[in-house]
Amino acid sequence: MGHIDFDPDDLKDRQGYFLMTSLIVPRPIAWVSSLSPRGVRNVAPHSYFNAISSDPPVLHFTSTGEKDTLVNVRASGEFVVNIVGARVAEEMNLTAANFPPEEDEFAWAKLSDAPSRTVSPPRVARAAGAFECTVNRIVSIGNGNMVFGDVRNIVVDEAVMRNGRVAPDLLDPIGRLGGSWYTRAARDLFEMKRPTWDAVKDRPDEDAG
Ligand SMILES: Cc1cc2nc3c(=O)[nH]c(=O)nc-3n(C[C@H](O)[C@H](O)[C@H](O)COP(=O)(O)O)c2cc1C
Repeated sequence: MGHIDFDPDDLKDRQGYFLMTSLIVPRPIAWVSSLSPRGVRNVAPHSYFNAISSDPPVLHFTSTGEKDTLVNVRASGEFVVNIVGARVAEEMNLTAANFPPEEDEFAWAKLSDAPSRTVSPPRVARAAGAFECTVNRIVSIGNGNMVFGDVRNIVVDEAVMRNGRVAPDLLDPIGRLGGSWYTRAARDLFEMKRPTWDAVKDRPDEDAG
């Protein structure tokens, strides 16, 4: 048994997708709420998602191809990233179905909305956290359309906070793995303090002699 090489030029069908999404794991999930030009509420999960800058706060999610979320975000310049805890996993998954653009996905998933403070799209009321964003820019690379969002407001449910911080066990986030697999990321926690250079350089070499 050894390591196998895959040349991107030789990948067939959706092999590239399967390799990328099963190796780059676990991925956080941006549950993006947006409004269509006609005011229809849309919400859809995007696991190509991460923080870009914390000062000022900027994040991104990527739409593979042109989906309703991307169309709405391009038109309005606004969206909300809702954070997905285990308590809303089923609802999140339902909103990944390919609803026609005129369907209200909050209604289909029986999700209550809550008004955002700084943007028009509402947030998912039961989500433990939300980032209200305006579009900074959209960068298209291959089949990915990366939406960068300037964060205008951050909302956190006090129920997931302990000692003034978001507690991983209370947030109970889910992460996306390959295929249809997910992980409850806070179920198997371990802690490692980041060492300083001073501590590392004076460490005895345990392999020696
Ligand atoms: C957990 C999860 C993560 C997903 N991540 C992405 C993603 O990063 N980018 C994407 O384009 N689609 C992603 N999808 C698929 C979209 O959610 C799906 O195509 C959805 O119908 C898009 O909705 P919309 O057309 O209302 O925007 C994901 C689906 C699931 C279940």
